[in-house]
Amino acid sequence: MRVAVLSAEAVPYSKTGGLGDVAGALPKALRRIGVDAFLVTPCHLQTDASHLWGVAFESLTVGWMGSTTEARIFYSEANGAPTYLIDAPGIFHRDSVYGAPDDHLRFAFFCRAALTLLERLGAPVDVVHLNDWHCGFAAVELASRRRNETFWTRSRTVFSIHNLAYQGVFGVSELGSMGFGSDAASDAFALEGAASALKAALEVADVLSTVSRTYAREIQTKEHGGGLDWLLRSRSDRLFGIVNGIDFETWNPETDAEITAPFDATDLSGKALCKKALLAHFGLDEGGDRPVLASITRLTAQKGIDLILAAADEIVGTGARIVSLGSGDSKYEDALQRLRDRHPDRVGIYRGYNERLSHLIEAGADMFLMPSKFEPCGLNQMYSLRYGTVPIVRAVGGLDDTVEEFSAATGKGNGFKFEEYRADRFLEKVFEALYRFQDKESWHRMQVNGMSVDNSWERAAKQYVELYRSALSV
Ligand code: ADP
Ligand code: GLC
Repeated sequence: MRVAVLSAEAVPYSKTGGLGDVAGALPKALRRIGVDAFLVTPCHLQTDASHLWGVAFESLTVGWMGSTTEARIFYSEANGAPTYLIDAPGIFHRDSVYGAPDDHLRFAFFCRAALTLLERLGAPVDVVHLNDWHCGFAAVELASRRRNETFWTRSRTVFSIHNLAYQGVFGVSELGSMGFGSDAASDAFALEGAASALKAALEVADVLSTVSRTYAREIQTKEHGGGLDWLLRSRSDRLFGIVNGIDFETWNPETDAEITAPFDATDLSGKALCKKALLAHFGLDEGGDRPVLASITRLTAQKGIDLILAAADEIVGTGARIVSLGSGDSKYEDALQRLRDRHPDRVGIYRGYNERLSHLIEAGADMFLMPSKFEPCGLNQMYSLRYGTVPIVRAVGGLDDTVEEFSAATGKGNGFKFEEYRADRFLEKVFEALYRFQDKESWHRMQVNGMSVDNSWERAAKQYVELYRSALSV
């Protein structure tokens, strides 16, 4: 089976969030189980040139905006799978990967260039695996090409939703110049008087998936459907939930070169050294055996930062430490700064993106906070489990699927979950965890339970193969 995975970001070439992790890891995991998978992604300004191994095609002519645009195609296997990076500096070189007013044009170009590249590579693909709204244009284009061009007849599209909140909305008047002027194409894009690349993909892709079982159910409800629940319900027979894996090589406390001391489930003494180093890094007082509660995230409303901020003074009042790594909305960055200013010896913050620090935090913290409003999957709770850092999460989306509530009676479970999106409910759960932290035997059990869960990509990759098979039988 030959599969092209398309993504706007992919590790190690680019990353703004979990999509980058997933798109970077999945092709390698698929190859390990015998799928001929490869990745196509843009070459962003942020892409480190050291990851580019060579040039696959000096010039690829892409039909664009009624004319043509040339792109260079880089080749690499830095993510463990063949990767083609579309280099068009005028389009992709921006200060950040997303956030430009012409993002819809930039990623529509990416899709057009990717399909042009697949043709140039010569061997037809069975499945084109598209991720998030940026790739939605390719679903529409492929559906129409398949009707007219033999090269595409056997290709099927799988579209994965990583976050329904981002819908790729732009003005319908632009569709014509982008090459989507036909009635069928404009109908697919049409959403409440505008055009949406996400909606188009949800309508025309052969098979849909999302990144957890619970989110697959949630997005079919009004509450979590982002105005598209009706469409998702109408396609429920083709909509599947596959929980993301995590890269077990990158996130492995036994071999992680970024952390102070290695550790594993049989010997957690290295974790205590990592905790010391973490406290020292943030200049925090050790103050005896005080728990460290951590957060690593994009600072957006999705992630439940409001709940953390509302509960933080009381948490710190118990003597616990809080460390936060993140950047995003300035209102959250500022509120975290004020929290730190109120408790300089108990709260540590790092404003920005820092891969290395994220490893140190996962290794050194005792608990990880993820009280998300919604969470398609979430990766950090799984990294936390692997590093013996007990997650405290809201029971939504992938958080509900990957964290099991601890029971002192049975000794089963690996974390703490609360239901309602309310600061008092969150705080109650944190207090329960702080209480349990005193009971060293239960705590150790909980850590070991979490460290023993197999969230590797192997499981998820096998499920994707099943998904691809179902797409091929459509
Ligand atoms: P999302 O994709 O919604 O941001 P995920 O939990 O799926 O959430 O993935 C987030 C990824 O981004 C994780 O790999 C996490 O470690 C990483 N991350 C988020 N913020 C930062 C940061 N400030 N510094 C380093 N890594 C970060
Ligand atoms: C999105 C979601 C996150 C998920 C990630 C990778 O960014 O917000 O929950 O883990 O995609 O699928």
